[in-house]
Amino acid sequence: MPEPIIETYELTKYYGNVKAVDHLNLTVYEGEIFGFLGPNGAGKTTTLLMLMGLTVPTSGTATVGGYDIIKESREVRRIAGMLPEGAGYYEDLTARQNLDYIGQLNDIPESEREKRIDELLEAVGLTKWANTKVEKFSRGMKQRLGIAEVLIKKPKIAFFDEPTIGLDPQGTKEVRDLMTQLNKEHGLTIFLSSHLLYEVQQTCHRVGIIRGGRLVAADTIENLSKNIAEKGRMVIEFKLTEIRSDLIRELEAINGVTHIKRGEDNRLYVYMESDRSREVSETITKHGSIILLMKPKEHSLEEIFLKYYEREA
Ligand SMILES: Nc1ncnc2c1ncn2[C@@H]1O[C@H](COP(=O)(O)OP(=O)(O)OP(=O)(O)O)[C@@H](O)[C@H]1O
Ligand SMILES: [Mg+2]
Repeated sequence: MPEPIIETYELTKYYGNVKAVDHLNLTVYEGEIFGFLGPNGAGKTTTLLMLMGLTVPTSGTATVGGYDIIKESREVRRIAGMLPEGAGYYEDLTARQNLDYIGQLNDIPESEREKRIDELLEAVGLTKWANTKVEKFSRGMKQRLGIAEVLIKKPKIAFFDEPTIGLDPQGTKEVRDLMTQLNKEHGLTIFLSSHLLYEVQQTCHRVGIIRGGRLVAADTIENLSKNIAEKGRMVIEFKLTEIRSDLIRELEAINGVTHIKRGEDNRLYVYMESDRSREVSETITKHGSIILLMKPKEHSLEEIFLKYYEREA
């Protein structure tokens, strides 16, 4: 059984009258990549800052690696690292010099620093650029340097706040692959904040959806998807040998079928309130058409996301 590594209890933060985070209860397990998904202003950055002990909650609390974020914030910062949104670098220093400086700030002895920096440059794919000034770096390279900076103190947990914002597809993929690799090879627990559905779907084991400071769902993508299917509608995709309009009319008349959509290559998408797959396939067969393919249409994270939002609205 995985152990909880982050637990929040009614975690709340107001900025004046603005409620940024609202009674957040969340558990993240050791060794997972947890996606914290929400639109602009949802409270992601505020949550990360509280979990790093960098801003004090208005009420509620949390533990990170077993340490209380308020009373033991120094210990929290020792075992957790954060890559802030739009992190800055010393542009006129080289990658190695940037890392060396961050290493000094983190009290890593000089004797260890060089070896550690070599390993990190290697891990983030910047060995070739070690002695190049950061001003020459692409955004993607800078972001990978930022990740190396987070890792210099060998954290157990890394918070990445929108790490691929402003990166091109190649840079995005590199950062994403790097996160997966750090998690797999080094068991690093990653808390990834993002408003990008695809990113979270590609990298994360579990997802929390936050909106207006409140957690509206937290589960695996698979389970979130199932919930939506059970509570709302179900869609089955069919590929048939032929589709006649009287078939469509008859399918639409089945109790529980809400509507039918036609797709390319004799595909049909049957939308249902409850599972009517048996009646639907019997009707198709009765009309002399052969079912070449029949599968539940997976809900994309986008659909899930919108659904959870609609429910709240
Ligand atoms: N320092 C601050 N002072 C006042 N209000 C703030 C401050 N920081 C954040 N807020 C407000 O708190 C709410 C949550 O902001 P937060 O930055 O945590 O959201 P976010 O999910 O990180 O958004 P984004 O996707 O834009 O980064 C917003 O309404 C924001 O305007
Ligand atoms: Mg933010």
